[in-house]
Amino acid sequence: MGKTIIVSNRLPVKITQENNELLFNSSEGGLATGLGSIYKENNNIWIGWPGMIIGEEEEKDVTEKLKDLNLIPVFLEENDIKHYYEGFSNEILWPVFHYISTYARFDPDNWESYKEVNEKFATVILSYLEPGDTLWIHDYQLLLLPGIIRKQFPDISIAFFQHIPFPSQELFRLIPWRKELLRGMLGADLIGFHTFDDVRHFISAATHLLDLHVDGNMIRSGDRAIGVEPFPMGIDAQKFSDLSNDETVIEHIKSLKEHYKNQKIFLSIDRLDYSKGIIQRLEAFELFLQENPDYHEKVVLFMIVVPSRDNVAEYQRLKNEIDRIVGNINSHYRKLEWYPIAYFYQSYPVEFLSALYNIADVCLITPMRDGMNLVCKEYVASRNDNTGVLILSEMAGASKELIDAIIVNPNNIHKVKNALIEALNMPEEEMRERMIAMRQMVFKYNIYHWVKIYMQRLKDIKSTQLSMKAG
Ligand code: G6P
Repeated sequence: MGKTIIVSNRLPVKITQENNELLFNSSEGGLATGLGSIYKENNNIWIGWPGMIIGEEEEKDVTEKLKDLNLIPVFLEENDIKHYYEGFSNEILWPVFHYISTYARFDPDNWESYKEVNEKFATVILSYLEPGDTLWIHDYQLLLLPGIIRKQFPDISIAFFQHIPFPSQELFRLIPWRKELLRGMLGADLIGFHTFDDVRHFISAATHLLDLHVDGNMIRSGDRAIGVEPFPMGIDAQKFSDLSNDETVIEHIKSLKEHYKNQKIFLSIDRLDYSKGIIQRLEAFELFLQENPDYHEKVVLFMIVVPSRDNVAEYQRLKNEIDRIVGNINSHYRKLEWYPIAYFYQSYPVEFLSALYNIADVCLITPMRDGMNLVCKEYVASRNDNTGVLILSEMAGASKELIDAIIVNPNNIHKVKNALIEALNMPEEEMRERMIAMRQMVFKYNIYHWVKIYMQRLKDIKSTQLSMKAG
């Protein structure tokens, strides 16, 4: 049996510096955890960018150290980061795929760089790839890669999964390089998205723009049949459940509870991103405060915003806007001993997040658009006592699974405000019923299940292709 090669823009690695020396540790992110059962085994590997610019003289040393973790680096230069990562991936694909096409800047230099860097990834992959191997490529930064590899290895097994939404074809077609992007993705044998809607949009784009034939969820491209299917990604639910009993977590819970005694806690955790609906969430919370003076001093919005993509202009603007609105709300409503929003612009270790999941009465996840959103699943998995209320945007992929959350349209700030009140007053029995149903879903369809069915489906498609060829 051949080996499996995972490919993503970022490697699952945390790099720290100690005494002028770089230290490398595997990261514990959701995808890394799920795929750990693959890439850490046998001679399987994970190929990607180590997340920082490495000087030429250090490349050899870094490569050696990463090899111990089964990781293979693709080194990016400043220009790649500016045009491929920030420019094409995050200033064209990200906004269009999240339905905010007015933020997209269709700069042709970015397209050139995107092609070059996808080729760069291909060069590294090709130096490891052998007939019989399986390649699993992840996300929108690498849409051309399946097509590039397919040309060199016509029979190799390639799976592609996109972690962000795939937009309606009316939006997708705005991208000047739409056909090249589709052809790149169609180099895979199996193309996966989080939801059925993403699948529909992709199939619609492929049929309208490339005039391809579709049979159910199989697309015909030349003599190849490509599967396009929904695979809603899960989390390591057991890990979050167990964390709730971890000593460090219990310490954090104790001190947080002490600090916020007599207050109900609304929790929101996001990367800094305009797709996350942070501004609209703050507007809804302000409306709640305005209309409900009785709740003053009795609630707090604990809001963590994790810094992200801070060289991209829209992210800088958003950061300033959040700072301004939080400042206004806090200065307007605060009392000597109380302020309505505890706002933190930084990332935290998982133990602290787990403690927050445990103490939060309500978790507020209201993106404008989100491929899946795993934070809401982490909240649910952490609630071992079946309490807690989840308010979830209908624009998040997770809302298709967690139907027992209070589902809201994040643009309807009156509805979100009402949801806050509903959550605070939900009868205990109803709260438990909803949480139990959501926990069943999150535990059953966990990350290990996701990896297993994805790989199984790829094998099925491959054998169908082989029998079609033989027949
Ligand atoms: C989303 C994307 C990932 C990306 C992550 C962080 O979850 O789907 O591909 O890695 O955001 O963004 P960054 O730009 O920091 O890699």
